[in-house]
Amino acid sequence: MRTQVAIVGAGPSGLLLGALLHKAGISAVIVEQRSADYVLGRIRAGVLEQTTVELLERAGVAERLHRDGLPHGGIELAFEGRLHRIDFKALTGKHVTVYGQTEVTRDLMDARTAAGLVTVYDAENVSVHGFDGNAPRVRFRKAGIEHEIACDFIAGCDGYHGVTRASVPAGAITGFEKVYPFGWLGVLADVPPVRDELVYANHERGFALCSQRSRTRSRYYLQCALDDQVERWTDAAFWDELRRRLPDEVAQGVTTGPAIEKSIAPLRSFVAEPMRFGRLFLAGDAAHIVPPTGAKGLNLAASDVGYLAEGLTEFYLDKRTAGIEAYSARCLGRIWKAERFSWWFTSLMHRFPETGAFGRKMQQAELEYLVGSAAGSRSLAENYVGLPMQQVVPG
Ligand code: FAD
Ligand code: PHB
Repeated sequence: MRTQVAIVGAGPSGLLLGALLHKAGISAVIVEQRSADYVLGRIRAGVLEQTTVELLERAGVAERLHRDGLPHGGIELAFEGRLHRIDFKALTGKHVTVYGQTEVTRDLMDARTAAGLVTVYDAENVSVHGFDGNAPRVRFRKAGIEHEIACDFIAGCDGYHGVTRASVPAGAITGFEKVYPFGWLGVLADVPPVRDELVYANHERGFALCSQRSRTRSRYYLQCALDDQVERWTDAAFWDELRRRLPDEVAQGVTTGPAIEKSIAPLRSFVAEPMRFGRLFLAGDAAHIVPPTGAKGLNLAASDVGYLAEGLTEFYLDKRTAGIEAYSARCLGRIWKAERFSWWFTSLMHRFPETGAFGRKMQQAELEYLVGSAAGSRSLAENYVGLPMQQVVPG
């Protein structure tokens, strides 16, 4: 088998890259180790920046997003029993769109099938070769048979635990990492969201987030211990703990119901530099992780592949290599800004037992500053809604 770009991983970054390349007339094959149903069963992000919406429009997969996505012009911060709205529209003129990663993935998968493009699911033993020379190849086994794809470039879109970053020689890559001493317990339930907008709550019992997928489906999160077990949390225990961490006026409005998904995710900040090794490009979670507090993970995955598709299109259509040469620096400029914001917002909103009473007082003082000053509110709003892609290009 031969293709121009072999993409490893059919998460949002791999699928969106495939769609953008197809629009530019560039061939690509996606190799994914899981089944399509497994990929669709993972409940993850829910907030799209305008930049991500524009990339999905460019890829021709935004019809359902425009119909069912919920524009949100702000968020609410809860602390000390009170609620404060951060008005994105007034502060930045922009909004975000609430539309689940599952739906983005489904739209991209459907468009791929409709266009007759090849995605190999259930690929075993995926490996990448020859990217430091001129003959990159991706090998895998499917149903007991060995396959090889010869290509011009490999895109490593295979997430944090993937094989592509691990295949780069150790001396050629530097990782920067921070692991947080807690996780998020998430519950998805078919109940109406408690508020119209997302509520981020700082509470002495720990962080809580009220999010949503639609007017009838809610997504809630609680800060939990790293060694906590999902099985320990009955639905009743989850709803009780959630209400305890919210101001009364919000807690009283929570509609409870059976959880349709419950999972625990660890929180981590991670960046690998650089993001290009010869003819291998890393994108999305394969290259970086943010704690979910800033809602940046999926948006960074989208902007990475936006830059990559642009670079590859220039290469094939105009025979120019400037775009692919600038890929890593362009992405990293944007990534470190999102890393800073996600780390800061995580530090502000969670309970860190080791920082003691002084740490809590500092959080409260900073939250008061944020909601009480135009500069503080604007900075939060600008970072949350995200930057346009061209604004972070160095030079
Ligand atoms: P992924 O979605 O991880 O996709 C990578 C794909 O590669 C997967 O389908 C995987 O099966 C496949 N793969 C892995 N290894 C191989 C291999 N060897 N060969 C072939 N295929 C392979 N972000 C938010 O903004 N908000 C959230 O609430 C949020 N919650 C999250 C919860 C969890 C548990 C995780 C892991 C992430 C969460 N994120 C969240 C982050 C966000 O979901 C990711 O940033 C986003 O999924 C990145 O997309 P991606 O395509 O780069 O990686
Ligand atoms: C979600 O809806 O899953 C979600 C929303 C905002 C976040 C994190 C997760 O910051």
